[in-house]
Amino acid sequence: MHSIFKILISDPLHPDAIAWLRQQPGAHVIVHADISQEDLLKIISDYDALIVRSRTKVTAEVIAAGKRLKVIGRAGTGLDNIDLPAAQKAKITVLNAPGANANAVAELTLGLMIALARDFPQAIQAARAGAKVKAYGSELAGKTLGLIGYGRIGRRVARFALALDMRVQAYDIITPEQTEMGVQLVSLEELLAGSDMVSLHIPLTPETRRFVHAPFLERLKVGASLINTARADLVDEEAVLQALQQGRLRSYATDVARENSVLLGHPRVLLLPHIGASTEEAQRRAGLEITERVWQSLIAGGATGSSSA
Ligand code: 3PG
Repeated sequence: MHSIFKILISDPLHPDAIAWLRQQPGAHVIVHADISQEDLLKIISDYDALIVRSRTKVTAEVIAAGKRLKVIGRAGTGLDNIDLPAAQKAKITVLNAPGANANAVAELTLGLMIALARDFPQAIQAARAGAKVKAYGSELAGKTLGLIGYGRIGRRVARFALALDMRVQAYDIITPEQTEMGVQLVSLEELLAGSDMVSLHIPLTPETRRFVHAPFLERLKVGASLINTARADLVDEEAVLQALQQGRLRSYATDVARENSVLLGHPRVLLLPHIGASTEEAQRRAGLEITERVWQSLIAGGATGSSSA
């Protein structure tokens, strides 16, 4: 006899992870990878566990409707789409897979650094218009990269940048025990004044919302570029637009723009549709890690699952 656990997967998850979960004795797995918020509210009361990425919004309403919910698993890093205080109040365990996609996001950041240094947005426009080749951009070697956030992703980006002979400085509210050799820990003020390129690698929390706003951009070295592969709401896009128009900001690249972004189509903006973690490798790692963690958590607290012979 073993407990039966009903698990809902409400975002696209790697097939190997779904297959692994389905093989566990007592796991009843349902996949609704594009379920609407309305439908989620209707069916969540049937489930012991919910596995999501960033599309599903696990609001206080969803948590209240999830009468049987014991575990919420996030196949990735950011937990900003989950109402953590509501989950804590309802005694629901929230798990994520924070390291699983760090390399994918760091590699994308490196790509965006090169793309901005070489003025890809303007070069692509010129190519589309059939314009003659002009000299575009500058080199990264010898320039200074400023990392805001020195966690798993920030550290990996630092290693890539050092390999390109860049100078790297980092700012974090948590002082890391160790830094990569050659990385200088600095104040935010120093970082903004001394970086040719600044990249954001911090989570979205009530404290970091609109971290990049007009005063931040005014303190930035004139002509610097900014990269955001973290979260849209870290950045006041109107302020970024103004800084671009004033020529203070040379260019901006983001993998996490707001819906109907005011920056869409700007000639010095590179905008991607949140593909940072969407590599085969990262999705497989994140999927397998989270399904295993969710499953372990369910069976560890298993007594409340329904029983079957
Ligand atoms: C994350 O927080 O893990 C990344 O932003 C990826 O989000 P995604 O799983 O929705 O692509």
